[in-house]
Amino acid sequence: MTSAERPRVFVVRRLPSAIETKLRERYDVALNATDETYPLDRLVEAAQSFDAIVPTVVDNVPAAVFAARPLRARLVANYGVGFDRIDLAAARAHNVVVTNTPGALTEDTADLAMMLILAAARRTSEGERQLRAGDWAGWRPTHLLGARVNGATLGIVGFGRIGAAVARRAHRGFGMRVLFVNPSTPDAAAVEEASAERCASLDELLASSDIVSLHAPARDGTRRMIDARRLESMRPGAILVNTARGDLVDESALSDALEHGRLGAAGLDVFEREPAVSERLLALPNVVLLPHLGSATTTSREAMGERVLANLDAFFRGVPPPDRVA
Ligand code: DGY
Repeated sequence: MTSAERPRVFVVRRLPSAIETKLRERYDVALNATDETYPLDRLVEAAQSFDAIVPTVVDNVPAAVFAARPLRARLVANYGVGFDRIDLAAARAHNVVVTNTPGALTEDTADLAMMLILAAARRTSEGERQLRAGDWAGWRPTHLLGARVNGATLGIVGFGRIGAAVARRAHRGFGMRVLFVNPSTPDAAAVEEASAERCASLDELLASSDIVSLHAPARDGTRRMIDARRLESMRPGAILVNTARGDLVDESALSDALEHGRLGAAGLDVFEREPAVSERLLALPNVVLLPHLGSATTTSREAMGERVLANLDAFFRGVPPPDRVA
């Protein structure tokens, strides 16, 4: 294929260099060398002059992009699992295929969720801040006492790939009892591996768990599912961990619950208005805050890129892309 015949691919953010090299070899590609955030106009222009757009999980791809005229783009190959910022209905209406990158980041995101569970329970961020500030007065029996994770009950909201991987770690590595809720039938082997017990409702799970870890996608029906009432129904001193999407939690209600000591702690990798983080959360000592690092290993980020390439390659060969979501 001559370069004039190669499909034109517009990549919205800078990607790992190994992936950008492969994209350059296979496609007539526009890369984002400066990693700047593009305005909507730029995406609309891209939809008019490129065959595929590769956004990431933080880029909005609203109906205006699919309404571009003339519309050249036929594929939106999302770099990431979550596609909550892509208007799927508009994509379908304009016959644009949308794909994502499932599976590539499961283990690393599960590791990070486990790390947040441990860090929130054992107050490690508080301890490090204290030590770095020169305020550590030495070992003493009552210093920074946290909650024991081993043997605690972990409630998993969303028993998909990542939820199941957290359950496995928690049960097999930390002897935790695992409860879960999931809208569909979960993978039976994953349930068995973690001896996980299904709860009849989210309310039952919240009332029965010492630690709750969120692994649901953001969509109608899950947005703000953890609201003031549900936070109130959690066990006193319970811990909430979110590595899924900020939209799942009412952050203001969460701040209330943490400020009033209703919840013991939280571990958050995702936020309602990323990259902005509320002043109230920033001021709370009992929250571990991370900048959306769930998939931030070279292994995951390259694997995500490989899945984008697999979807592009299949689509432009005329076969169904493996990870089609619309
Ligand atoms: C995803 O792929 O949805 C993750 O949030 C990226 O870390």
